[in-house]
Amino acid sequence: MEISELIKKSSFAQSFDNKTVEYSKIAKIVQGAISAPSSEQLQAYKIYVINSKEARENMFIACDYDQTVQDAPVLLLFCADLKRAEKHHGERTEFFTSTDAAVSATYAHIVARSEGLSANFISNFHPLEVLRIVNAGEYETAVVLMAIGYPKEEGVRKGQRAMKDIIREV
Ligand SMILES: Cc1cc2nc3c(=O)[nH]c(=O)nc-3n(C[C@H](O)[C@H](O)[C@H](O)COP(=O)(O)O)c2cc1C
Repeated sequence: MEISELIKKSSFAQSFDNKTVEYSKIAKIVQGAISAPSSEQLQAYKIYVINSKEARENMFIACDYDQTVQDAPVLLLFCADLKRAEKHHGERTEFFTSTDAAVSATYAHIVARSEGLSANFISNFHPLEVLRIVNAGEYETAVVLMAIGYPKEEGVRKGQRAMKDIIREV
């Protein structure tokens, strides 16, 4: 399916199937994530693949018991890496690195969907707690957790704002 067609559909899984995601698909998703454009091509982000049972359980709690976090077979945490970019971006480092991490997550999201998976963006987490779970570096901030897997129940898109309400020609 064309990407322009794919992204018109809902991406969100209300619930995930417990079917394992093939390693080859996870590899493609991560490759997609690190292929994203980034400010000054610094790739100032880290991606944590959360595999251990203990880390997964703690992540579930840190996301206020979001069931999709418990059920998704793949959890990726995208963090901004401020240390990597501070010399380049000065006082705007947090903005640039958070954007880099979000763009990387978006690429992962699109690749996951093109592989027939659902991928949920989750930002409703306790930021310091998720950083502790992955043992993140001192200069990292958590941007988005992505829960990926085969959908059991797909989300229903609520509708979109009209183009005229969003786009401004200047
Ligand atoms: C940056 C970002 C953060 C989000 N955080 C959450 C979240 O914490 N919890 C949640 O249930 N959904 C979260 N979502 C998912 C949106 O609610 C979801 O994309 C929305 O339901 C629309 O999905 P669809 O248009 O693909 O159907 C987040 C989405 C984005 C882009």
